[in-house]
Amino acid sequence: MKILVTGAAGFIGSHVCLSLLERGDEVIGIDNLNDYYDVNLKLDRVKRIENHDNAVNFTFTKVAVEDRPAMERLFAEQRFDKVVHLAAQAGVRYSLENPHAYIDANIVGFMNVLEGCRCNDVQHLVYASSSSVYGANESMPFSVHDNVDHPVSLYAASKKANELMAHTYSHLYNLPTTGLRFFTVYGPWGRPDMSPFLFAKAIFEERPLKVFNYGNHRRDFTYIDDIVEGIVCTLDNTATGNPDWSGENPDAASSKAPWRVYNIGAQTPVHLLEYIETIEQAAGKTAQKELLPMQPGDVPDTYADVEALVKDTGYRPKTDLKTGIKAFVEWYKDYYKIETN
Ligand SMILES: NC(=O)c1ccc[n+]([C@@H]2O[C@H](COP(=O)([O-])OP(=O)(O)OC[C@H]3O[C@@H](n4cnc5c(N)ncnc54)[C@H](O)[C@@H]3O)[C@@H](O)[C@H]2O)c1
Repeated sequence: MKILVTGAAGFIGSHVCLSLLERGDEVIGIDNLNDYYDVNLKLDRVKRIENHDNAVNFTFTKVAVEDRPAMERLFAEQRFDKVVHLAAQAGVRYSLENPHAYIDANIVGFMNVLEGCRCNDVQHLVYASSSSVYGANESMPFSVHDNVDHPVSLYAASKKANELMAHTYSHLYNLPTTGLRFFTVYGPWGRPDMSPFLFAKAIFEERPLKVFNYGNHRRDFTYIDDIVEGIVCTLDNTATGNPDWSGENPDAASSKAPWRVYNIGAQTPVHLLEYIETIEQAAGKTAQKELLPMQPGDVPDTYADVEALVKDTGYRPKTDLKTGIKAFVEWYKDYYKIETN
């Protein structure tokens, strides 16, 4: 199977490339290697893929998804069987600083991916959505069957827009699409702008860590291996129309068209302070905490209902927090050469 992975130098994308290579797929990875965070970390992730035993089946190209001619060329030349679209401007907080980056990468870029799939008979498009689409919803756990029309950041709005755009292509052109709403992903090779990384860094550097909303958040953290398994599993299980879907009582998670959305989360929300304690234990050091108010665009709690994913694919995330954090902290110490005794 020939598969395009966009965002291949990213945290999740690099792990997905490795997993697909491992099982023998041919993988074309693209990424624009932007400097939203440390570019060396992105290059090291690509190097890691290029060192895989099956790397002969891997090609990496630097492409920006909003570059329409480049994307048209790529799709026409390569004729992918399936696409995993993960390239995006990520991060809730940065969307208040640089909103245009989200329109370029997440809206124009997504459009180019949809058109590439439509014009070149791609069999299935799996793309990253986000738990942030739940926005102002307070009904827990967050269910894919609930309406998500109240985003509280432009990042969230761009991901919800992707789900809507995908639906039109599934409806008009019968393109099978699956949107995956990820819930705070963490693990080895993780993102330096996210709390697990920021917390570990502050703990090792003996600096106070910023704890927003005075630590009263609850987050459904999801270990990277669980996300990768969920992506690969849904990629294999091509979206089909739901014959029971009715326009009179429309289910928000499916359609008559081959379109669906799933949550992927651990289904175990953890209090932020408990989370910090788990990192402290793995690091063998105590954190200094600076308690701060909630940041604009943030939501207080996230909690995934993953039953739709389990029902359709049989897959359920399984890694417990302690195991996942231990693996993350071990990687962090190794990568940044931190000596502890
Ligand atoms: N990590 C999480 O907790 C999380 C949660 C919800 C959703 N997501 C989504 O999952 C996907 C992957 O996230 P990640 O955590 O691996 O982030 P990441 O930033 O590590 O990976 C995204 C990659 O896409 C690349 N990219 C960005 N803009 C691009 C563009 N215009 N053209 C080509 N490449 C571009 C970046 O260089 C980066 O390597 C994203 O769509 C993100 O929005 C992630």
